[in-house]
Amino acid sequence: MTIQKFGAGGWTPSRLGSLVGKTFVITGANNGAGYEAARVFLAKGAKVVMLNRNVDKSLAAIDSLKIELGNNADVTFVRMDLAILDSVREAAAKIIEKVSHIDALICNAAIAQVPKQELTVDGFESQLGVNHFGHFLLCGLLFDHIEASKGRIVVVGSNAYKMGLKRIKFEDLNFDKKYTAWDSYAQSKLAQMMFAYELQRRVRAADKDVLVQVCHPGASRTNLLKDTASTFNKMLWAALSRIIAQSAEKGSWPEVMCAAEEQVEYEKLYGPTKRVDTVGPIGECTMDECVLDREMASQLWTLSEQKTSLSWSIQG
Ligand SMILES: NC(=O)c1ccc[n+]([C@@H]2O[C@H](COP(=O)([O-])OP(=O)(O)OC[C@H]3O[C@@H](n4cnc5c(N)ncnc54)[C@H](OP(=O)(O)O)[C@@H]3O)[C@@H](O)[C@H]2O)c1
Repeated sequence: MTIQKFGAGGWTPSRLGSLVGKTFVITGANNGAGYEAARVFLAKGAKVVMLNRNVDKSLAAIDSLKIELGNNADVTFVRMDLAILDSVREAAAKIIEKVSHIDALICNAAIAQVPKQELTVDGFESQLGVNHFGHFLLCGLLFDHIEASKGRIVVVGSNAYKMGLKRIKFEDLNFDKKYTAWDSYAQSKLAQMMFAYELQRRVRAADKDVLVQVCHPGASRTNLLKDTASTFNKMLWAALSRIIAQSAEKGSWPEVMCAAEEQVEYEKLYGPTKRVDTVGPIGECTMDECVLDREMASQLWTLSEQKTSLSWSIQG
């Protein structure tokens, strides 16, 4: 059994002191766990830059944060659509130009359970494109900037990584043959997490000053399925989530922890630790070995560099 170093109550934001002078960049922060993470950082005096795809929702989120936390809350947004690689490139360039220091980049945005196969403009299965390739490119473009800040990269995964095929379907990446909403979402989250652990290994081997952490929010009441999932899955989740899920606020704590807590470790997965790691105190979760498969991670890295036309400054 894993020893939980934050005690029976688990990690909570009350462990954090003032975050004045820190800057957190969060993808998909107009809603759900990303929005709640922004609330925590702002309440502790940090600056937050959201990377969101929707202008109206971003302005509404900023309004609501300022109404709650005061007009001085330092929150802005840069438009970025992870489904369009050129949009990611533009957003990364703006961040490098405007944000001098990044304490943590949190890869939080995602789409899930897309019922029928859809392709992004760059030709990727939509969940793999948004959740993995978009974030892979963003992290690669911002890596040197984050290293100069001695900052962190936090990847928000999901328990889904171990509930699908438990491998990257290199022979049919877009699920052209037998598409299912579940397997394709699971693949995209596995890809994100495999990438993160591979990045951890590369950072350590190259002795770079970037901390990479991986977490998941368990089952949280957010908007994740509201736009994308099938009507049946939406109705099912709407009913089930009242019983089995926790609040979006609690869902945000693992990513806040990974971005700001001192006592985090190498090759760990942080999230809720009760009811099969879906709710409850935040701590170290059990890991399925599929996510640490080095050969697959290395193959995925090479493929991701090709697909995003990006050669990372850090090599394997
Ligand atoms: N909720 C859960 O039970 C659960 C379980 C396991 C893992 N997760 C993970 O938790 C993270 C946060 O999700 P959530 O539950 O908070 O869901 P959410 O409320 O739907 O938030 C997702 C965010 O991602 C943004 N997004 C979607 N597509 C995007 C794109 N192409 N470009 C930029 N931003 C985009 C959304 O923007 P819009 O508002 O414009 O759509 C939204 O701000 C995700 O990584 C998800 O996989 C959640």
